[in-house]
Amino acid sequence: MEFIVKSGTPEKQRTGCIVVGIFETRKLSAVAHQIDEVSGGAIAAILRRGDLEGKAGQTLLLHNIANLPSERVLLVGCGKEKEFNETRYREATAKAVKVLNDTGATEITTYLTELDIKGRDIAWKIRQAVEVSEVALYRFDQLKSKPKNQRRAIKRMVLAVPKRSDLGTGEQAIREGQAIAEGVRLARDLGNLPGNLCTPSYLAEQAQEIGKQFNLKTTVLEKDDMQKLGMGALLSVSRGSRQPPKLIVLEYSGGKESEAPVALVGKGLTFDAGGISIKPAANMDEMKFDMCGGASVLGAVKAAAELKLPINLVGIVPSSENLPDGDANKPGDIVTSMSGQTVEVLNTDAEGRLILSDALTYAEKFNPAVVIDIATLTGACVIALGAHASGLLANNDSLAREILNAGKYTHDRAWQLPLWDEYQKQLDSNFADMANIGGREAGTITGACFLSRYAKNFKWAHLDIAGTAWKTGKEKGATGRPVPLLVQYLINRAHKRDAETTA
Ligand code: BES
Ligand code: MN
Ligand code: ZN
Repeated sequence: MEFIVKSGTPEKQRTGCIVVGIFETRKLSAVAHQIDEVSGGAIAAILRRGDLEGKAGQTLLLHNIANLPSERVLLVGCGKEKEFNETRYREATAKAVKVLNDTGATEITTYLTELDIKGRDIAWKIRQAVEVSEVALYRFDQLKSKPKNQRRAIKRMVLAVPKRSDLGTGEQAIREGQAIAEGVRLARDLGNLPGNLCTPSYLAEQAQEIGKQFNLKTTVLEKDDMQKLGMGALLSVSRGSRQPPKLIVLEYSGGKESEAPVALVGKGLTFDAGGISIKPAANMDEMKFDMCGGASVLGAVKAAAELKLPINLVGIVPSSENLPDGDANKPGDIVTSMSGQTVEVLNTDAEGRLILSDALTYAEKFNPAVVIDIATLTGACVIALGAHASGLLANNDSLAREILNAGKYTHDRAWQLPLWDEYQKQLDSNFADMANIGGREAGTITGACFLSRYAKNFKWAHLDIAGTAWKTGKEKGATGRPVPLLVQYLINRAHKRDAETTA
């Protein structure tokens, strides 16, 4: 979709549809009021008939409003004005786009951007409108033999800004929003692609494509390279699979040569059957999403390159399958990681931390300023935080705060859990330096404790996205999270500003 900003009053817009907000109960927003006036009270009259209360989620499509050059007006219920907030704004915008996509309107002009949200400026509202609209219209039908034929979909969205002087800010917000939306789309497409197609080799090919497109240095470590480096933890997981493992590295250099890079490390487990500690059959298909951390790294690197951010960035994606096989890891096996630390594999289903441990050690090579890993690591995180917040654990408090703030700004939120030393002893092993599981208690924390042992030489944060990376049930599919959070973190870093002031 194309996005543009415009300033100007609604009664002058010649567009397929004007979108305006109505609050509960039948309360016109400022722009709705303007339209009402020029049309001689048409909007108020319709509301009086009781067709729209203004409840959140309601919409009413009107045609041929008097004295308006636009073909349609969409009234969108926004709930009580006092309760109107970020979530309501996002929902109202998504709803409008979805409703209008099923009409004949190919261009729409939204004035929802002029509704007040506490602490949020026009740049924020435009950014969110772009991201939310692209998410709302996303479809994954490339594997249906007969894709549903799409009618005339929305081609252009005009975002209203109150003043001419907002146009520049608005355009920049569109650029950022579109780059993030593209990163999200990539992460969703890769996530939704099934395990038989999205293999470690496929992920590596996609990374090569991105590398070519943006002129990035792309390196793919093969099994032999991993053997030479002593990546015994990563290799032990891939031994159960016929697909060769890959360790994908994308380097984007937008900053000074001397500047230490940010490293993003994403779990790229293209299918997790659990290995010999095999998972139950129910919903196992969802373990094709176990590479969503890796996909979010590719999406974030792509967005950073698209925005030409003045930073250096390394994306690292260790990729493998986790399957049962005669040569697979067995409970009790002891493997030696690249760091030299040994691990007793008590549960072969705790494989994400194994492949990440070697990838974290590998990241040291880049002398990174900070390392953030992103992984669908623990089912326990879904129990703790559900689908709304990613779990965040870090060995550095200011890094944690910056990530939390980037999440708040983009509404791609994270919640911090403690990484106290007391939890570490749950990983004690009688036979190796550590076990790969820490028992039933605090599973997300002990997962992070395991990773922390490979992150001692840099500032590090871990995002557990097991609950946020995909949706289950009727709307099953990858979300593209936490691409918005990651890109915002990078944008803030590039501008050396902390989003806290706006959080
Ligand atoms: N990929 C899973 C985590 C997962 C499970 C994410 C369900 C989303 C939904 C991970 O590899 C895994 O299997 N973790 C185990 C760890 C346990 C054996 C310590 C888990 O969470 O059960
Ligand atoms: Mn697993
Ligand atoms: Zn897994």
